[in-house]
Amino acid sequence: MTPHPLHTRLCDLLGIEVPIVCFTHCREVAVAAINAGGFAVLGAAMQSAEQIEANIRFIRERVSGRPFGIDLVLPQNAPPSGTADEVYASIPESHRGFADGIKRKYEVPEPENEVALHQWGGLNKGIAQRQLDAVLEAKVPVIATGLGAPPDLFEAAHARDLLVFSLVGTKKQAMAQLEKGADAIVAQGFDAAGHTGAMGTFSIVPEVVSVAGDKPVIAAGGVTTGRHLAAALCLGASGVWAGTVWLASHESDIDEVVIERILSADGSETTRTPSISGKTMRVLRCPWTDEWSRPDAPEVLKSPYQMMLTSAYLQGANDARRPDLMTEAVGQGVGFVDSRRATAEILRGMVEEACEVLGGWPVPRAGSA
Ligand SMILES: Cc1cc2nc3c(=O)[nH]c(=O)nc-3n(C[C@H](O)[C@H](O)[C@H](O)COP(=O)(O)O)c2cc1C
Repeated sequence: MTPHPLHTRLCDLLGIEVPIVCFTHCREVAVAAINAGGFAVLGAAMQSAEQIEANIRFIRERVSGRPFGIDLVLPQNAPPSGTADEVYASIPESHRGFADGIKRKYEVPEPENEVALHQWGGLNKGIAQRQLDAVLEAKVPVIATGLGAPPDLFEAAHARDLLVFSLVGTKKQAMAQLEKGADAIVAQGFDAAGHTGAMGTFSIVPEVVSVAGDKPVIAAGGVTTGRHLAAALCLGASGVWAGTVWLASHESDIDEVVIERILSADGSETTRTPSISGKTMRVLRCPWTDEWSRPDAPEVLKSPYQMMLTSAYLQGANDARRPDLMTEAVGQGVGFVDSRRATAEILRGMVEEACEVLGGWPVPRAGSA
């Protein structure tokens, strides 16, 4: 069979048709992307081990044996144990007061539901380990992590023939992860939704390619069209890893109120702020991010303490479905997310446009990236 024109070594590594990785928290989006010929990585950092197991079963039952991945947050500086209440208790009074002031100023209601953060892998190492054990036990083909990983992750995954993909924001981080045994590097630029560093996608991708040797590099950050996909391949990447582009898909389970904001937003309505989690993270601007960027705001706490402080605001805003308060991790490419489409249609549209763009250019093609 003739290989797809966009076939790269990432396709060989994963046994997929086109080199697009869909990062999503929504299992229906993941299933749709996998069945459309791409790869999907389910973000599971906020899920309990039991929820992760259920989601793995859900995906497996619907993708006819095709592979997929799970993304966890396994920060090495998280406390070894401790409940959300204990973490909250060690937050300085000055910071609690500032957070309460924001809630009063914007009339943020108290949360109605349990705060989602309580099973976050970044909260303590015990939670993270239980999540990781669930993924290892289920033998999910790819485990992806950003913000570092426990030293024995690579050995544990490789012993089970599983691949580890590391998300990085600098060449130095990429080299450290390759040294530890990463099977592919996700070079994530400043444009990206979620935790992101200071390097732009256009700079970080070729820098990481220059040190990655035969390991595939996957470009992340701002990839929302086929032109971005084509550009990533031209930069030497073997594929793209995209998150923002699926947020308003038909299958997306994000609140419709946030989807409306996403559809109307452009990149300038996002901000890269440490105020959500303690580490720089790109999200839609909201009163919480604005207030913490004031010159008289206290210094942002480290993760997980800042995240704990944020969580009551976020949960209250989400439960009340207040568009003026709500936020979401959204990348600078959000301006291209302007209509509701099926995940498969988005993926196919990217592929078609990339083929069209690359068709007219003398660039390295099939199999060389
Ligand atoms: C809503 C949302 C939540 C995210 N949460 C995580 C996460 O928990 N772990 C992670 O490694 N990356 C997370 N990311 C970042 C993605 O893995 C990816 O690097 C990023 O979306 C790529 O940039 P793009 O959004 O411009 O496509 C998130 C992205 C989005 C859109």
